[in-house]
Amino acid sequence: MTSTVLIAGATGDLGRRIVRALLQHDVRLRVLTRPGSGTAAALFGGEERIDVVVADYSDGAALRTAVTGVDVVVSAVSGVRPVIVDAQRALLAAAVAAGVPRFIPSDYSADYRSIAVGSNRNFELRREFAADVDAAPIRATSILNGAFAEILTGEAPMILFDRKRVLFWSSADQILDFTSKDDVARVTASVALDADAPRVVEVAGSRVTARDVAQTMTELTGTTFKPQWAGTTGSLSVMSKVLRRLAKDPDETFPAWQGMQYFVSMFSGQAQLHHVDNDRYGAHEWTTVRDVLAAHVARERTGGASA
Ligand SMILES: NC(=O)c1ccc[n+]([C@@H]2O[C@H](COP(=O)([O-])OP(=O)(O)OC[C@H]3O[C@@H](n4cnc5c(N)ncnc54)[C@H](OP(=O)(O)O)[C@@H]3O)[C@@H](O)[C@H]2O)c1
Repeated sequence: MTSTVLIAGATGDLGRRIVRALLQHDVRLRVLTRPGSGTAAALFGGEERIDVVVADYSDGAALRTAVTGVDVVVSAVSGVRPVIVDAQRALLAAAVAAGVPRFIPSDYSADYRSIAVGSNRNFELRREFAADVDAAPIRATSILNGAFAEILTGEAPMILFDRKRVLFWSSADQILDFTSKDDVARVTASVALDADAPRVVEVAGSRVTARDVAQTMTELTGTTFKPQWAGTTGSLSVMSKVLRRLAKDPDETFPAWQGMQYFVSMFSGQAQLHHVDNDRYGAHEWTTVRDVLAAHVARERTGGASA
């Protein structure tokens, strides 16, 4: 039977990938976008199975109309409190009011459930919203996937490509979970269509240590990359708190101090995944950290831009 799926944040990086992954299945899609956002029509207007619905997250009636009749609401919105807590609360309330059976919050992260209080703003916003989800009369599934593998060649300054070093805090042997964006999107599509999905689905394309990453870079480049101690997770946590106090824009989603908090959560082991089930939706070839780094090294060799 054809499922109807509403995706909020479908115009974003992950959201677009989720739409592509869902279109591999027997679905009708509703893309929820904010007034003035502007890109949804250009992105999805030509696809016969997609309807673009415009609604403001402060307009409860419009949100209810948007979600009425769908089988599942998938959120892929991004931001801090006004988005992860406030906008998602409005979306969840609309889904409950309209009798939507299932909801997928915009988590797509490491396991934020047992991190220390005050250690990671973005994770704690997810935990706060998860309490609302748990209390709501709707079936929900969070997707926990560790960090996006692509950040290793982008936003996360863990590999110092020029200096041939791989930074670690406290331990070079702490397991770190990574999953590519397209693999997260594929899993999200499967979860969206799985009426029996549990409260949490954990996946990881790669589970590696900083020492493994250094070894992989050595093998890919033929030059020795060494793990480099950068301090303890405790010292990094203190540094992130100082930078946070000095920050000009408290609502920036990914400031440097937030990046430090992600490393604290990962290298302390507090956000490590413990129930990875990569085979829940059948066997798949997962994009690994090695694949992402190999593509980066190949691009650098041919003078291309980094990912
Ligand atoms: N695990 C990781 O390493 C990792 C890395 C990056 C991101 N993520 C997570 O993945 C999810 C998607 O991130 P992304 O990078 O794809 O985000 P993105 O490209 O910034 O797009 C998110 C979408 O959210 C919607 N949005 C923005 N501001 C909003 C607001 N104030 N209220 C409601 N909706 C708003 C927008 O859709 P419209 O304009 O169409 O309304 C936007 O296209 C987030 O949960 C993010 O934290 C995880």
